[in-house]
Amino acid sequence: MELTFYGHSCFKIVSPNGKKILIDPWVSNPQAPKNVDLGPYDYILITHAHGDHLGDAIKLARTSVTQVIAIHEIQQYLLSKGVPNAIGMNIGGSYRSNGLTFTMVMALHSSSLPDGSYGGEPCGFVITLENGLRVYHAGDTGLFYDMKLIGELYQPEVALLPIGDHYVMGPREAAKACQLVKPKFVIPMHYQTFPILTGTVEEFKAFLSEENYQPEVIVLRPGESFILK
Ligand code: NI
Ligand code: MN
Repeated sequence: MELTFYGHSCFKIVSPNGKKILIDPWVSNPQAPKNVDLGPYDYILITHAHGDHLGDAIKLARTSVTQVIAIHEIQQYLLSKGVPNAIGMNIGGSYRSNGLTFTMVMALHSSSLPDGSYGGEPCGFVITLENGLRVYHAGDTGLFYDMKLIGELYQPEVALLPIGDHYVMGPREAAKACQLVKPKFVIPMHYQTFPILTGTVEEFKAFLSEENYQPEVIVLRPGESFILK
């Protein structure tokens, strides 16, 4: 698989069979590289309804070849905005399609739609690719002990964890999250996009060095990719 960071919490994954997945499709974020792939995608995943995650979903999902996967309330909102192919699900369940499995897991955060109405619960996703590789995108979240269950059940090779602090885990909490999830690789996200997201990779690595379990930290600058076979 090839995983590309588009800045903030936005990632593109190309699966082993060539399916294109976009997570938290805010492709117009201030960190976004110039050469963002605008699709069409096979799948767009949305962790919650805040603008920095829902992002450009409506624009990117105008075609029915793109399945948007989100919690029920966001699906209803997207359908009302004319998005033709939105799949609504909820936490704990999996959606299977073309040899891929999308499992919705909990996140500890809030969620509201652009009009201020309730956006359903926030979530994370565990994506199981055709070859069994698993990627955990934690969404926006604080640290919670049930991350241990996500680690035990799904054993993701790669975890995408927020480290920016203030609205999400900071470096210290993210280092502890690695002890619960135990991914082989961790990729920091949701930091330095705005001045208030103060967490840094250096702090994250320093806190990790005090912990027992050390995943490999992969730092992607916007536009850079990580390839895993
Ligand atoms: Ni949020
Ligand atoms: Mn956010």
